[in-house]
Amino acid sequence: MDKKQVLLQKIQENIKEYCDHYFDFSFNPENPKVHLHEPTTGSDEIYAAVETMLSTYTTMGKKVRAFEKQYADYTKTQYGVMSNSGSSANLLAVATLANPFTPDYLKPGDEVLVPALSWSTTIWPLIQHQLVPVLVDCDINDFNLDLNKLEEAISPKTRAIKLVHVYGNPCNMDAIMSLAKKYNLFVIEDCCEAMGSFYDGKPVGSFGDMGNFSFFFSHHISTLEGGISVTSNFDLAETMRILRAHGWSREADEHQKYVKMYPEIDPRFIFINVGYNLRPTEVNAAMGQHQLPKLDALIDNRRETAAFYLKQFAKYEEFFQFQRETPKGKHVWFGFPFILKDNTPFTVKEITTFIQAHHIETRPIIAGNMARHPALKMYPHRISSNLNNADIVMKKGFAIACHHAIDQNAREYIASIIDKFMQPYATQRNKKTKECYA
Ligand SMILES: Cc1ncc(COP(=O)(O)O)c(C=O)c1O
Repeated sequence: MDKKQVLLQKIQENIKEYCDHYFDFSFNPENPKVHLHEPTTGSDEIYAAVETMLSTYTTMGKKVRAFEKQYADYTKTQYGVMSNSGSSANLLAVATLANPFTPDYLKPGDEVLVPALSWSTTIWPLIQHQLVPVLVDCDINDFNLDLNKLEEAISPKTRAIKLVHVYGNPCNMDAIMSLAKKYNLFVIEDCCEAMGSFYDGKPVGSFGDMGNFSFFFSHHISTLEGGISVTSNFDLAETMRILRAHGWSREADEHQKYVKMYPEIDPRFIFINVGYNLRPTEVNAAMGQHQLPKLDALIDNRRETAAFYLKQFAKYEEFFQFQRETPKGKHVWFGFPFILKDNTPFTVKEITTFIQAHHIETRPIIAGNMARHPALKMYPHRISSNLNNADIVMKKGFAIACHHAIDQNAREYIASIIDKFMQPYATQRNKKTKECYA
């Protein structure tokens, strides 16, 4: 082994020793705490990042390309275009559909259907491209787009659907793709909460024209920050590669075509479109290469935790409603949402304050109804029918952790705290039942 190899081995061993010692995210009964998220990355990913930095090849290159292929294979698509966040993946997908390189591209004023229960950067790229978001209500059972309201929302100006697989629960893609076919609509899947989710045995992200994923810290796997768009359409992938990096042709598969077309321009700097800089780094990709093979096992734990919660809290069905897994779908539980039913004798604030006082973190379900946030009010948009269910999710919903590191001790602790909060209400109910039989 040369000196370099010896040093790298020492670094690797030290990182492993550090992580073995300090990276324990299991539940500690002495100091009970349940964070909404814990790191999915460990010594393999940290060493891969450090080794990449030491190599000095850190800006987008071979590792990004390799990870794109690995991710496209996982999603059973042809191409992956990695970027620096899920929001950037969403931006690239919209920018590409609204780009003159795309046949019959989206034009200013065209309408795009989006769920009201979505994320800010599901919607903002539409506004940034002078498209008109049309907000559609969610179904109160699976939290995804209400399929009846979706069809009702279609107007002669509608050109696309940008859906979200909410909290990792896949949309009914049979229904959505047949609607898209009927009305000749583009489909972008925002899969940022749904990595590893399947519908009818097919990975989410592989149904629409493009599927976008996030590798932010809190997601199913992480590259720190990071995102990827997948597609099986070569032209869309190629335009995304061009728009991702300044609008130059350098990373396009067909770069040589442009070199021949513009012999008078330096081949390194041929700007063939109007682009951004949304590139990831080799460090992100190196981490992703180690993360992806772990994804399915990480998801298994999320599903086990969700199954535990559903069983445990079934006794409170009079008070809570839970998200229903889509038939034919594999839900990957980005978190575990609760909705307080009508006439529940306590508020979201009361229950979340109690839970949080016991060091169990909570949060809103995504950010509720995006139509109720101030930003959208400044820009043209349309609200189709009512958004009653998205309002319910916003006003009466909250979520707790359902991540890969929740172990049986954490599950039981959470169950015990919720039982403690529910005790007076459950007692009241028992009393009433007894009175009925008296
Ligand atoms: C539905 C949805 N879309 C997009 C994003 C943005 O991803 P990122 O944080 O990587 O930009 C998120 C973030 O959680 C999300 O939930």
